[in-house]
Amino acid sequence: LKRKKISVIGAGFTGATTAFLLAQKELGDVVLVDIPEVENPTKGKALDMWEAAPIQGFDSYVIGTSNYEKTANSDLVIITAGVARKPGMSRDDLVQINQKVVKSVTKEIMKYSSDPTIIVLTNPVDAMTYVAYKESGLPKNKVMGQSGILDTARFRAFVAEELNVSVKDVTGFVLGGHGDTMVPLTRYSYVGGIPIETLISKQRLEEIVQRTRVGGGEIVNLLGNGSAYYAPSAALVEMAEAIIKDQRRILPTIAYLEGEYGFEDIYLGVPTLIGANGVEKIFELELTEEEKEALQKSAESVRNVMKALS
Ligand code: APR
Repeated sequence: LKRKKISVIGAGFTGATTAFLLAQKELGDVVLVDIPEVENPTKGKALDMWEAAPIQGFDSYVIGTSNYEKTANSDLVIITAGVARKPGMSRDDLVQINQKVVKSVTKEIMKYSSDPTIIVLTNPVDAMTYVAYKESGLPKNKVMGQSGILDTARFRAFVAEELNVSVKDVTGFVLGGHGDTMVPLTRYSYVGGIPIETLISKQRLEEIVQRTRVGGGEIVNLLGNGSAYYAPSAALVEMAEAIIKDQRRILPTIAYLEGEYGFEDIYLGVPTLIGANGVEKIFELELTEEEKEALQKSAESVRNVMKALS
């Protein structure tokens, strides 16, 4: 069996961390790509990772480059290229700059790979996933964005802390766009199969949900110069693993909607089945009036960002 090839575009904090996790998990050979101005540091990071291989015992080969020819015939492409959010900057401020980046990166990728699956992380991620979809010309199932795994991971971490239980036993559920208008569905969240709403008071749960909503901002403020990357990288790798190993995981994904939940021609976070063919299915749930309204608001905020796209 031939090893899979995974290209990670953007060798910054998130891209480099993602590349290292992918290699450690032996999900495939990794090509780490950044702009020519930082070609040497990119090569250096990749070489440093490869030199960890004998110690950690992984056979995934890692290279760094600014030459897209090296990405030829990628099975999977992960886009983290762009500018990260600084304190005081909203995700939406990033839209113009990152649109250009995602567009050009996708164009370069498609020159050398005819049928890759693309996962986008670059923010504002719902809109940037749409940009990659349009630019790539790939079918909708092959282009997706990451946000829900990260958002639910934050929620799960806070709940595990609150109840002093294993993170493994806590599940979370989120719909909508990434950001302050995300729609966490606590009625679909469980601790060891027990509905979370029976274990945590309504008020406390609301506080945890609110902390989850602004979880990205909490990290931005603490770091002072950049945005979260450990948990985002872990989230990307969970999606990559589901695709590479055809795990058929049920994961929250930013997927292209064509009528689902009443939305058309938009990328939004929804529960999906992720396997070898990418987004193989979107699950449509019955929503309460309140949830419908929140999702509508979330979609509107994504549309507002999309208005800034040129
Ligand atoms: N092609 C390739 N790489 C690019 C390009 C481009 N056109 N433009 C910028 N980059 C690279 C930068 O050179 C940098 O190395 O993208 C990398 C981004 O890395 P960081 O600045 O460290 O940002 P990071 O924290 O990794 O976040 C990346 O993920 O979570 C989102 O909001 C975040 O959009 C941001 C992205």
